[in-house]
Amino acid sequence: MAHKKIIIAIDGHSGCGKSSTAKIVANRLGYIYIDTGAMYRATTLYFVQHKIDISDQQSVTEALKKIDISFQFENKTHKSSIILQGENVESQIRGLEVSEKVSEVSAISAVRKKMVALQRKMGEQKGVVMDGRDIGTVVFPEAELKIFMTADLKIRAQRRLQELNESGHSPSIEEIIDNLEKRDNIDSSRSDSPLKKADDAILLDTSHLKFEDQVEKIVNLALNRISKN
Ligand code: DC
Repeated sequence: MAHKKIIIAIDGHSGCGKSSTAKIVANRLGYIYIDTGAMYRATTLYFVQHKIDISDQQSVTEALKKIDISFQFENKTHKSSIILQGENVESQIRGLEVSEKVSEVSAISAVRKKMVALQRKMGEQKGVVMDGRDIGTVVFPEAELKIFMTADLKIRAQRRLQELNESGHSPSIEEIIDNLEKRDNIDSSRSDSPLKKADDAILLDTSHLKFEDQVEKIVNLALNRISKN
């Protein structure tokens, strides 16, 4: 009998490689990868583009009614891109302006309510790898496999610097440390769905792990879990 598909939740701190790991794990398993951070980033981009005052609840509620977010999957390349109001905004959401505002926007309960509902819908057929901050605690507390990823702040910043340098950006290491630290603080201390390890999540510290090794570890855990399903 074929094994049933499972839900894999990958949560953790900013910049410890959750998305790149989750993407490859999904490819290896033939699962769909869902980048929930991209959904909060796209919402932030919409607020920036439409000059929404996020301290005004009414404006936020009205804007949320109009926001249309989905993912586009390319079967050949396994690439997934986020679509906002029909437009591919995958690269726009990675900019500094969005990065600086996204933690504030994602602390708004009305925003979380809409995103969580969308995420539950996307995962209802299972066979998904979803990465974020509250997947194992709030979105899918019943997920069959939960990973909580972390890594030393300086190591995370070094990795991020290398990535940004490769894509032609040249911020200082101090700027990166500052952004990662700020986001971790806001994400962990917000009252609605703070970033925290679910009791039944497996802690994975990637400070001294090679990328391929962290992928391998999660794939093995997943295959083990799937074989029991
Ligand atoms: O994964 P990321 O760095 O692209 O996420 C951007 C921000 O979105 C992050 O600082 C916190 C927020 N986020 C969240 O609150 N809940 C999620 N499930 C995913 C991201």
